[in-house]
Amino acid sequence: MQLIDGKATATAIKADIAEEVDKILSAGGKQPHLAAILVGHDGGSETYVRNKVIACEQCGFKSTLIRFENDVTEKELLACVDRLNKDTDVDGFIVQLPLPQHIDEQKVIMAIDYRKDVDGFHPINVGRMAIGLPCFISATPLGIITLLQHYHIETSGKKCVVLGRSNIVGKPMAQLMMQKNFGDATVTVCHSHSKDLKKECREADIIIAAIGHPDFVTEDMVKSDAVIIDVGTTRVPDATRKSGFRLNGDVKFDEVAPKCSFITPVPGGVGPMTICSLMKNTLAASKKEYY
Ligand code: GUN
Repeated sequence: MQLIDGKATATAIKADIAEEVDKILSAGGKQPHLAAILVGHDGGSETYVRNKVIACEQCGFKSTLIRFENDVTEKELLACVDRLNKDTDVDGFIVQLPLPQHIDEQKVIMAIDYRKDVDGFHPINVGRMAIGLPCFISATPLGIITLLQHYHIETSGKKCVVLGRSNIVGKPMAQLMMQKNFGDATVTVCHSHSKDLKKECREADIIIAAIGHPDFVTEDMVKSDAVIIDVGTTRVPDATRKSGFRLNGDVKFDEVAPKCSFITPVPGGVGPMTICSLMKNTLAASKKEYY
């Protein structure tokens, strides 16, 4: 079994990005600039956004964090999105999800200029990705593909099971894994209504677990030498930790790890790669690589 080190891979990629930014600045080019909108004080979102700001520093990017309280109106948020769309210094921006109940998330996403949508959530980017056109690809699926490539894990012709069908991870992940000249895998997507999900998993060469259900994937669901990618990051109360919680993956790591060929840990697997992919997308936005 080989542990897939997402943290080390992300650190190496961020160092490459920083080197490229240095060259751009030395040649008199513009410093890439990522902005983030954060609504409220959800612990998970606070951590994600803080890590994104730190990653910007590591890559030599400028970053701007715009905060709103939970009672922000949809109109105020849309006005902020409009302002960032028009700000020529901002290359890309994200609206950290989830948003409070009274705000229509899709309406906010659709208000983002797709050319600055470095999260790859806008329907234009989602659609372009689905037909293999250049676009911003959602950061977590892009990070997973990058990890698989980095570890030279063959995907072509393999049976891949994606657990979960979210717009952010499950659906784009399945699209990328089946994409011609990309994943080239045979993909099955399983979710809460799937019949005999265990059987599907047992037949899989690659399992990508993104259902947000701690320890869901157990040893009996995994065939020998499978590749296991764990996207789960549920915060589970843990009195032994200073923070009072720990991040728990979707895979029961201790019993699954000995059985597989490759596995990502939680934390230190997919998480750091998500942030590093956002940096890649921001650099691409500043270089106007796609649009
Ligand atoms: N919430 C959970 N993951 C993400 C992400 O990748 N981007 C944004 N904007 N919000 C998220």
